[in-house]
Amino acid sequence: MSDSEDDDLQLCPATLAALNEFLLEKEEKENRLKQSLESESLDVSFDENWQLSQFWYDNETTDALVRGAIKSTESDGRIALISCPTLYNKLKKNCGNRKVTLFEYDERFKVYGSDFVPYNYKFPLDVPRDLSNTFDLVIADPPFLSDECLTKTALTIKLLAKRNIVLCTGSVMKELAERLLDLKTCRFLPKHQNNLANEFYCYSNFDFDRMLKKEDETL
Ligand SMILES: C[S@@+](CC[C@H](N)C(=O)[O-])C[C@H]1O[C@@H](n2cnc3c(N)ncnc32)[C@H](O)[C@@H]1O
Repeated sequence: MSDSEDDDLQLCPATLAALNEFLLEKEEKENRLKQSLESESLDVSFDENWQLSQFWYDNETTDALVRGAIKSTESDGRIALISCPTLYNKLKKNCGNRKVTLFEYDERFKVYGSDFVPYNYKFPLDVPRDLSNTFDLVIADPPFLSDECLTKTALTIKLLAKRNIVLCTGSVMKELAERLLDLKTCRFLPKHQNNLANEFYCYSNFDFDRMLKKEDETL
């Protein structure tokens, strides 16, 4: 490329400054993430991406679901999180020898290494075969309030779960959740950082409410 062509491609100072600022911010964010993972603090958080139907739980809900997951499983149990990535950090920090596996579509969560399994509800059986029937507890929060999404997610849940299932989804899915997975509505109501327009419930096939009681808990 000649000098004159090179000159043609130069950005105006204001655009260049904005671009540099963007790149610097991006680099700082990536460094923070890297440092956080290196120190194993796991304190990473990602913004909600509404294109992916991401609505994160509030802290109280995360604490409750993590407490319930720990109380519902043996000390060396296996827990699958399907499309509920915000539970991962706190669960991982408090789970002792339990194994936590996150099945998630958003590839940002690849930072969780071998605990991350790429998952698209549209291909419900497209999960590693050796994980079939290996999880003592499966917690799922499907991305969409549709029969198609819940029916397909339920196939993956059945494939992975040995027995215990917790499902967080809209109240409109109640009948289908009962029909497909034999789930009953819990008294516990999950809440979100940003209020949802839809009424939201928690369903389970065991007494999950009892597991959420706080006595002797540190969370
Ligand atoms: C309603 S949100 C549930 C998040 C949960 N409340 C939490 O705080 O972790 C739905 C989740 O489904 C994921 N998702 C989006 N598209 C998906 C797809 N095609 N297959 C599976 N999961 C998907 C989103 O990335 C998001 O984590």
